[in-house]
Amino acid sequence: MIEQMIMAHSILVKIFLVFLLGGLFIPFVTKKNPAGFKKASFIYTMSFQALATMIAFTGLVIMAMNDFHWTLSVIVMIIVWALLMYIEIKKYKLIKVANIEDETTHKLLRGAFLKISLVQIMLVVMIVVLKIMEAKGVISLS
Ligand code: HEM
Repeated sequence: MIEQMIMAHSILVKIFLVFLLGGLFIPFVTKKNPAGFKKASFIYTMSFQALATMIAFTGLVIMAMNDFHWTLSVIVMIIVWALLMYIEIKKYKLIKVANIEDETTHKLLRGAFLKISLVQIMLVVMIVVLKIMEAKGVISLS
C-alpha cells in the first residue's frame, strides 16, 4: 500500500513538472490577447493548486503510514511545497487586479509569469534530483 502511495506521489510530481513546462507557452500564445492571458492564468492557477494539493495529500498519507516520521527530506518537501503555493497565489493576485489592457502592464506580467514559472520548475527539479541522489545513497537526508 505504501509503495502504491509513493508511486502515486511520484507520478503526480512528474505530471506537475510537465504541467509547469506546458505553462511556459502561456505568455507566448497570449501575446496579442490580454483577456486570454488573464483567463489562461486563472485556469492555470486553479490546475496548479489542484495538482499541488494532490501531491501534498499523497505525501501526507505516506507520512501517516510512516507514523509521521520526520526526516530532513520531508521537511524540505513541505517547505518547497509551501513556497510554490505562496509564489503562485501572489502571482495570480497580481494578474487578477492588473489593468491587463494596458500594453506595458501586459508585457510586464507576461515576463513575470515566465520568470516565476522558471523558478517553480527549478524548485521541483531540485527536489526530484535530491530524491534521486537520496535513493542512490549519494546523500542522506533522514
Ligand atoms: C506537503 C508536501 C509533501 C509531503 C508531506 C511529502 C511527503 C513525502 C514522503 C513521506 C515521501 C516518501 C518518503 C521519502 O522518500 O522521504 C515522499 C517522496 C517523494 N516526494 Fe514528497 N512530499 C511533499 C511534497 C513534495 C513535492 C512538492 C515534491 C516535488 C516537487 C515531492 C517529491 C517527492 C519525490 C520525488 C519523492 C520520492 C518518490 C519515490 O521514491 O519514487 N514531494 N514525499
